[in-house]
Amino acid sequence: MKITLINRRKRLASERWAGLKTAKNRASSRVSPVMPADLRSFAARATDAPTNQNPFEPTQQFLFSDDDFQRLQKMIFDYAGISLNDSKRSMAYSRLTKRLRYLGVSSFSEYLDIVESHQAVDDSERIAFVNSLTTNLTAFFREAHHFPLLTEHLLKLHEANPGKTLTVWSAACSTGEEPYSIAMAVVEAFGMDEPPVRIIASDLDTAALAAAREGVYAVEKIATLDPVKLKRFFLKGAGAHLGLAKIRPQLQRLVTFEQVNLNELEWPIQAPLAAIFCRNVMIYFNKQTQADILRRFVPLLTPNGLLFAGHSENFFYNASEYFRIRGKTVYEVEMGQAGSVASRSRSVL
Ligand SMILES: C[S@@+](CC[C@H](N)C(=O)[O-])C[C@H]1O[C@@H](n2cnc3c(N)ncnc32)[C@H](O)[C@@H]1O
Repeated sequence: MKITLINRRKRLASERWAGLKTAKNRASSRVSPVMPADLRSFAARATDAPTNQNPFEPTQQFLFSDDDFQRLQKMIFDYAGISLNDSKRSMAYSRLTKRLRYLGVSSFSEYLDIVESHQAVDDSERIAFVNSLTTNLTAFFREAHHFPLLTEHLLKLHEANPGKTLTVWSAACSTGEEPYSIAMAVVEAFGMDEPPVRIIASDLDTAALAAAREGVYAVEKIATLDPVKLKRFFLKGAGAHLGLAKIRPQLQRLVTFEQVNLNELEWPIQAPLAAIFCRNVMIYFNKQTQADILRRFVPLLTPNGLLFAGHSENFFYNASEYFRIRGKTVYEVEMGQAGSVASRSRSVL
């Protein structure tokens, strides 16, 4: 009886997540047009798509004055280091109206009072406020040229010190596509399911992190991956999960998720790191915050450790003292600067 039950559970589990068909086979399979609510909200938030309604027209539902916007700008800067410029006013309005509706308040000034008043006792509305204002746009193998450089670097470090586990930090991992891409690249390069590499993936946004931990994606998000990767690293959803794919547990095991606010004075990250991915997040910070963060990366990196930046992020102008250019938006820490002690305090360049 017990065995029958276990077998039934196993069968049900495999009905939900089965080996993914190759891209070629998938083309003929039916894709569910229904996306779960959490994925839909990420899809909507990930782009700064204009809304149909202009919130500054008389139809604006919630009172949002210049003072409110300035207050909001200061708050998100203080919490997250995010410099929200004036052009983001309508984005801020549309992202936060959900929260105002949910809390039943009619003005932004009332809402911001709640965010601030909760800070001392209960962080929940501050977290929702920050989560609403982050932009989580990401993709598997985004900036694909970074991955061969990373794996070549890791293989070299491994060759020099075969007994050591290497660590890579994905410092603004959003919904997980970046750390899982790193994991896939590493597994393929080392030719084993359990390579001597661990990935720490962190983000400020708790909702994005929860999605990253789940590792479930709409099949459209993985449509461009090659069939070998699809088969090796994903399980295909069936039944209620039709149209979704889940990262296989053996890949997921290589990644550890935790919340890290890059704007905070302490990061729970241990040196030495073989590489840091800090891509497409510095663009939200001002030059001083960027410089502070870059400087704090230095002692965390192993000698010759690599820093990967986003396509529009040129760090070099304020980090040439510590890094030299290794490739397009890839920087190598100067020998002798790195690997000393974990950076604990914010310092100014
Ligand atoms: C545009 S996504 C980039 C994702 C990924 N690195 C990539 O390049 O595809 C930016 C991410 O930075 C995160 N972020 C914003 N401010 C942050 C902070 N102060 N500390 C840590 N993460 C932050 C956001 O939550 C968001 O998930």
